[in-house]
Amino acid sequence: MLHRAIFFYLAVAVVLLAQVAQAVKREDFKTCDQASFCRRHRQLSAHTLSRYSAIEGSVRLEQHTLSALVEHSDDNVPLRIDINFLSSGTIRVRGQEDAPLVPRFDDTQRYVLRNEGSRLPYAAPHELQLTSETADGQRVHTVSYTNSSLDISVRMTEQPWTLTYLREGRPTMQLNTKGLFKFEHLRGKSDGDNVDDEWEETFRTWTDTKPRGPESFGMDISFVGYKHVYGIPEHTSPLLLKPTRGDSSGYDQPYRLYNLDVFEYEIDNPMSLYGSVPFMLAHSAESTVGVLWLNAAETWVDVTYAKTNAITSFFRRSSSGSESTVDTHWISESGVMDVFLFPGPDAAEVYRQYAEIEELPPLPRDFAIGHHQCRWNYIDEGDVLAVSDKMHEHKIPYDVIWLDIEHTDGKRYYTWDASKFPNPLAMQEKLEHDGHKLVTVVDPHIKRDTSYCVWDDANKQGLFVKDKDGSSNFQGWCWPGDSNWVDSLNPDAVEWLRKQYHLDKYNGSSPNLFIWNDMNEPAVFNGPEITMNKDAKHHGGWEHRDVHNLYGMLYQKAAAEGLRTRESPNKRPFVLSRSYFVGSHRYGAIWTGDNTASWEHLRASVPMILSNNVAGMHFVGADVGGFFGNPDSMLLTRWYQLGMWYPFFRAHAHIDTKRREPWILGEPYLNYIRDAIRERYRLLPYWYTLFREASLTGMPLVRPMWMEFPKEESLFGEDSAFMVGSAIMVVPVTESGEQQSVDIFFPQQEEWYDMHKGIGHHGPLRRSFSVGLADTLVFARGGSIIPTRERQRRSSALMKQDPFTLHIYVSRAGTATGRLYVDDGETYDYEDGAFIERELAFSNATLVSRPSARTISSVARTTFAKSMARVRIERIIITGLRSPTTMATVSEDGKERQIQLGYSGYSADNTECVIRDPAVHINSDWEITLS
Ligand SMILES: *[C@@H]1O[C@H](CO)[C@@H](O)[C@H](O)[C@H]1NC(C)=O
Ligand SMILES: *[C@@H]1O[C@H](CO)[C@@H](O)[C@H](O)[C@H]1NC(C)=O
Ligand SMILES: *[C@@H]1O[C@H](CO)[C@@H](O)[C@H](O)[C@H]1NC(C)=O
Repeated sequence: MLHRAIFFYLAVAVVLLAQVAQAVKREDFKTCDQASFCRRHRQLSAHTLSRYSAIEGSVRLEQHTLSALVEHSDDNVPLRIDINFLSSGTIRVRGQEDAPLVPRFDDTQRYVLRNEGSRLPYAAPHELQLTSETADGQRVHTVSYTNSSLDISVRMTEQPWTLTYLREGRPTMQLNTKGLFKFEHLRGKSDGDNVDDEWEETFRTWTDTKPRGPESFGMDISFVGYKHVYGIPEHTSPLLLKPTRGDSSGYDQPYRLYNLDVFEYEIDNPMSLYGSVPFMLAHSAESTVGVLWLNAAETWVDVTYAKTNAITSFFRRSSSGSESTVDTHWISESGVMDVFLFPGPDAAEVYRQYAEIEELPPLPRDFAIGHHQCRWNYIDEGDVLAVSDKMHEHKIPYDVIWLDIEHTDGKRYYTWDASKFPNPLAMQEKLEHDGHKLVTVVDPHIKRDTSYCVWDDANKQGLFVKDKDGSSNFQGWCWPGDSNWVDSLNPDAVEWLRKQYHLDKYNGSSPNLFIWNDMNEPAVFNGPEITMNKDAKHHGGWEHRDVHNLYGMLYQKAAAEGLRTRESPNKRPFVLSRSYFVGSHRYGAIWTGDNTASWEHLRASVPMILSNNVAGMHFVGADVGGFFGNPDSMLLTRWYQLGMWYPFFRAHAHIDTKRREPWILGEPYLNYIRDAIRERYRLLPYWYTLFREASLTGMPLVRPMWMEFPKEESLFGEDSAFMVGSAIMVVPVTESGEQQSVDIFFPQQEEWYDMHKGIGHHGPLRRSFSVGLADTLVFARGGSIIPTRERQRRSSALMKQDPFTLHIYVSRAGTATGRLYVDDGETYDYEDGAFIERELAFSNATLVSRPSARTISSVARTTFAKSMARVRIERIIITGLRSPTTMATVSEDGKERQIQLGYSGYSADNTECVIRDPAVHINSDWEITLS
């Protein structure tokens, strides 16, 4: 949401606002040089030998941990480095003072990892073997996995201290081989000691008192044999991360990870945005590996692409000379060093390894993947219902209508403006009649007002974040003016927050209402960098500095818990959050914040959404239409045509923009937009099945092209085209103009079928397409089966008993496979087996439907199956059949029938064969053989 209030607060004239429009205020945000810890680390030069060494005799392997005491040559503060081996080959490297003067913040793992970080699947002692040797005067310790299926080892040198991860004898990931490891150990403050802003620093008008002094650390991580790295959202950089040092085509700043509310953010920039996920993938045609730098404090990451690897005398390498390397340098302000290295060797394996330490994304509520209509603001109940009626009138399906901050009584969340929303429950009931839901916004700043019972209650219970003194409430400005912030790190505050979402607490809410947490970075209009002062105090006495990137996620978590537990039996929640961190995928959806109605932002939404998916933030979208500014009809049309492929599909607009609901544009735009939204609804079964897959494997929903075609180097930098699951390639049109020429590369020896026209293209092929505004470029990959529901309704809730259509796109080998997953879309009964999951396979001119191996029999399953007993497959469309036939034999439940086939031809060799009403059911085993 816009910081209009900042401007009010600073009393800057509206005229000025118009002048600065469309430009981020860069001076509001720090560069690395303006954050003293970043500056201190970045001024180290790479390729000098590290002055950190392992203390002789300190290296030992115990259980699953190789540990060493490491010291800088100038001081005698031993650091303890633990390398923990997981049985999958993942390693976890942790480091901090062996005897810290005071504890460092180490709870990030509790909030992020499975089982709060305990009971991770570590290797058994017998799976590991340590050998130590002296070579070239260098003491080297190697831990190998004795597990014969893995040829993995980790090699540690003593002087200097370095770590190399080897697969099949070749280094893949290296730590401190560039000599950038630096650990600012905790120390006592001696008088007048503020060398290089270590104990206090000022940014613009804000002074950060640093009572603990310097406590940052940094490390180089090199990916040997790689030329491509991805991830570490959220930035507006291309998908393939640009270098940040030593390359004029790159950036001059590191990627920053510090959740911030950046007003009118710029495209192609490594500045921080609303979320931070310190997860990176490195990919080559041979393999994929990953890194998670688990730290919630401000973090910066430098990326350098090196042509040759510096030869390091202390380490004998099997391949020398001209190997490509990506050198990264990670720098965090506080906390403990905690790094996971995932060995792959492909993306699917990295996600499987990631899923061992982190929970998989849950299945969302079914409505959440439908079409969302939002605006700051729908003014009153009449407005909400009128927009809903217009959607019906224009036959545009939608699931959810949203209310921004103006619906409240003076920005007091959990309340309603009684003059505009006198009867919110009746309004929700009317919406529910057509299956629609309502979302209201709840921000983490609470208006400081003794007559506001929410504030009063939280204040009495001491649930707000505290000022640096630790006793008075931290106070700042946000939408309601003077506000306090609920401390999402305080378990009592979380419990209290949870209850605020319950039906008996949140007046005017029904089970039909869901939540949007905005401004939870947190945005503080008069704070440094528009956020909370780093020396503010959280539960347990921790500074905001330590927990900053966790704050928003924990706020969303409390909301999700509140919604989940407001009904018995529990139902799946839906909460959208602007701020996020590693693990936020467990609590709901995120979006890319306050974008702008421009072609540039439309284009940038693709790499942003892909980067988030790469980093495990699957359920993400960008505001369709752009939040700031007024899109012209062409831009808005193109945005819907792309936005229908975002996992989270919401139109949203700023309060100062013109109304832009699809019907306002008139024809022909309305028609095109309706088509796009309807296509989303047709494909909801495919989307839901993809979410199911993600919930089992962690695989992204939308994928960079390279992830599906990992050996195709020409695709490693591609971030305009993308895959939705493994079956659909989308090539959005993101340039202005009635007629556009778009170049497309169809990878592999495979067929690609235009999903609208049925025409096949034989890969590998590069082709240019000329498209008008009505056209979109969407291709099904040969070998796929895509389930759809073709009947258009007002909402997805009204489609639950609708029949399915199966689209079979035949591969060159004449085969296709796919899956269909269905459950009730609301409850957790699927955990007890209440789902239908079918494996669909077409080969030898026979289509077979079988239950998936996960199908179990249970009471819940029987009940659900009964409720779906009448749901059938109403049509099967086979595209790309080599030898057309006219009859098919259907066998279901031991009965056989003959049916006639129909054809709709587009050209001699592109025909669609249609099996109309095969009368088979989704929950039974059947076969259809063409003859
Ligand atoms: C070896 O590692 C693989 C991969 O994690 C695992 O599937 C297998 O069970 C392990 N074997 C033994 C003997 O531990
Ligand atoms: C909800 O209604 C109750 C009963 O009228 C009232 O005491 C309470 O203050 C209301 N809650 C809010 C947040 O306004
Ligand atoms: C398909 O037909 C071929 C040749 O007739 C046969 O070898 C193969 O087993 C069949 N496959 C299936 C899945 O029926």
